[in-house]
Amino acid sequence: MSAAPATAASSAEPVRLAVVGHPVAHSRSPQIHARFAADGGLAVDYRRIEAPLDHFLATVREFADTGARGCNVTVPFKAEAFAACARVTERARRAEAVNTISFDADGWLGDNTDGAGLVRDIEANAGVVLRGKRVLVLGAGGAAAGALDPLLGGRPAALVLANRTAAKAQALVERFAASAARLDVPLSTAPFESPGQDFDVLINATAASLQAAVPPLPAGTLRPGALALDMMYGAAAGPFLQWARAQGAVARDGLGMLVEQAAEAWFAWFGVRPNTFHVLTALRREVDAATKATSQATADAAVDGAGA
Ligand code: ATR
Repeated sequence: MSAAPATAASSAEPVRLAVVGHPVAHSRSPQIHARFAADGGLAVDYRRIEAPLDHFLATVREFADTGARGCNVTVPFKAEAFAACARVTERARRAEAVNTISFDADGWLGDNTDGAGLVRDIEANAGVVLRGKRVLVLGAGGAAAGALDPLLGGRPAALVLANRTAAKAQALVERFAASAARLDVPLSTAPFESPGQDFDVLINATAASLQAAVPPLPAGTLRPGALALDMMYGAAAGPFLQWARAQGAVARDGLGMLVEQAAEAWFAWFGVRPNTFHVLTALRREVDAATKATSQATADAAVDGAGA
């Protein structure tokens, strides 16, 4: 991938970037990229753009025409972004989803940095090497699809996919079967409520946390001290994290994945890899404070409600 040269903070025009989604107001990407820019001494204008649901392409085109370098794409447009790109990286092709676009002179180049961000968070930040581990992924939607290739690349001893709707997990396993065979990683599906025993790593790629639902897994699914990671963060991840700790697992939310996928996108645009450690530390502090404030407000409201 050809990266445009970095732009020094002293140059007149900041590099224009954005995250495009619907909704997008909650996105932490502007803060993350502002920190990368400050660290790298780059002038960057990274904004949130909420595209109307039926005008994703026109919205991105308009932004590209301003001379922007690229954009991130978030829910629900990743599949549409994949279809819109002139070229895509191998990992985006297999995920059939794009979360990072570079507006190159010879057309839009689409990438998917979600899975690489996840694996980097697991291996570099959480310190769990995937090689030789038993890994269980819950879910078979876009989030799971984006994670599979990079997870296979970590060469686990087994990668098991379990989804509420079993047929979707089966379809994903078939899509990634050739990759798995090439890397000699056993890739299979298992029933959602009894996926097997003694997993070292659990990745919750379902949207269940948005409904405060926790995985319906029997005791013994995870090894003591296993890593259990939810791709969500903030208040939404709370019930999963609590459940994971009750299983004797090391619980981790999706904040590290968020920062690491952003770092991968930054690399695609600037050709340099930002240092993520203190960005993640600062972001965690902010998110924890916001989550605490939300829980306090909810508790206060409950007390008020009870007294009314
Ligand atoms: P995303 O892009 O976030 O992956 P998606 O493609 O809509 O979103 O996929 C959502 C995933 O979460 C699916 O695997 C879905 O399971 P189904 O395929 O059975 O629909 C899963 N999911 C959503 N709510 C869930 C719940 N309450 N319990 C378990 N799985 C759930």
